[in-house]
Amino acid sequence: MSTASSSSGSTSGGRQQVFVLVGGTGDLAIRMLWPSLAMLDQDGFLSNNLRMISVAREKVAHDAFVTRVSDAVQKRVGGDLEPETLGRFSDRLSHISLDVGDVEWGDKLKAELLRVGGGDLNALEVTYFLSVSPSLFKPICEHLRKAGLSHAPNRVIIEKPIGRDLASSIVINDSVAHAFDENRTFRIDHYLGKETVQNLIALRFGNTVFEPLWNAQSIDHVQITIAETVGVADRLGYYDEYGALRDMLQNHLLQLLCLTAMEPPSGLSSDALRDEKVKVLRSLKPIGASNVVATTSRGQYGPGFAEGQPVAGYEAEKGSASNTETYVAVKAEVANWRWAGTPFYLRTGKCLPSRATEISIQFKALPHSIFGGEARANQLVIRLQPDEDIKLTLMNKAPGLTADGMHLQSLDLSLSLTAAFDGNGSKPARRRIAYERLILDALNGNNAQFVRRDEVEAAWTWVDGIIEGWQKAYPKPQIYQAGTFGPMSAYTMLDRDGRTWND
Ligand code: BG6
Repeated sequence: MSTASSSSGSTSGGRQQVFVLVGGTGDLAIRMLWPSLAMLDQDGFLSNNLRMISVAREKVAHDAFVTRVSDAVQKRVGGDLEPETLGRFSDRLSHISLDVGDVEWGDKLKAELLRVGGGDLNALEVTYFLSVSPSLFKPICEHLRKAGLSHAPNRVIIEKPIGRDLASSIVINDSVAHAFDENRTFRIDHYLGKETVQNLIALRFGNTVFEPLWNAQSIDHVQITIAETVGVADRLGYYDEYGALRDMLQNHLLQLLCLTAMEPPSGLSSDALRDEKVKVLRSLKPIGASNVVATTSRGQYGPGFAEGQPVAGYEAEKGSASNTETYVAVKAEVANWRWAGTPFYLRTGKCLPSRATEISIQFKALPHSIFGGEARANQLVIRLQPDEDIKLTLMNKAPGLTADGMHLQSLDLSLSLTAAFDGNGSKPARRRIAYERLILDALNGNNAQFVRRDEVEAAWTWVDGIIEGWQKAYPKPQIYQAGTFGPMSAYTMLDRDGRTWND
């Protein structure tokens, strides 16, 4: 069944589209990227002549590669797969084995592109997805540039981590910029592809009811939580170098904060949206050695239980001492007219008791209650995971007759989004993989939901302050038991403000 809204036969500018997935046999490609592409294909979003080339060091014969990808797609989307999808999708695929260390990497890829494009590179529009370690972005972009493969309209998609701090992010961005202009550089933050994140934009800017209340006069504080039950598992090598602050807060949490706090953009164009997000990042009140202890909490999971299984603890898993945090909470303040005085409490952690990602807008208490202590302040919760929901908590009269007068109860108005995804309501809609939207946008050259270079740099500038502050004033994370909601310091941080987390 095709759900694509536009014709799938033509390509932009009449060129043939090619999707080159560098790292095509890697974990992300297998778990997420190929299945996303297959579903876009099933739903008629890919142009008929789009070809996909997987590039990886690993040597795999064509048939074995196709089988591996088909198995991965089946595993990821299972029952949603229609019988003809895999055959059509497989016909688009090829795999070549190339080692980035090989000086002929670019020429060998060029030969494959020429083969696909019938001998004319200018007849192609190539999207390169670099699903590899950021340390390879530079050599790969160099290969592409030298081989004459990075010219317009070709574009590149890269994913975090874009550096470990501002300085290293500049090095990475410069090396990519040498081959691709900024408007042809697509930095993925997969949270921006999630349905409810998109819905936050619709909720805020497609309605008039919230906007007059969306400010410090009406909102007491905002909590943004990304809680994970999983530990670090087989990603220890990467994770130990980054930790929760760099892995989650610098990107996903700050993007959610930006979308919650930004001013209404003048339109949905990529620059209109991103101009507003970057203003939020630049308005964040700096955190450094003098205030880092009061405004952050830094934790690491110790022994305990997560997902019903015993957990040895981060250091035991690593086999040596480590100061890497697996939990971070921050009190962020957006210093502008709209938000002065309304804190944004951000937190994320591994090995927590439940998986939940949500933005909770806590409205102020009644200025004067005529119902005694029964009236609770309104709350708007935008839930991204595990289920997608927007819930507004209101007070109403408890039903029935009582001798001692009127009593209140809270009522949740819930807009569950599960049935609404694809619209027609005839069959429960499939929850899309966040990468589907982002890959589709990239193929169409729309970078509104990708992160612009100045956003990355503004985010690092603020996060660098926390890193330096930690080095001077908060060198060690506090241990929390795996399977609990994080270290005590996260609770005392809110306690000091007379508030509590919504656990
Ligand atoms: C990734 C992080 O960006 O996001 C992981 O590197 C994290 O550490 C993951 O587990 C969470 O993504 P999601 O979509 O499962 O919430």
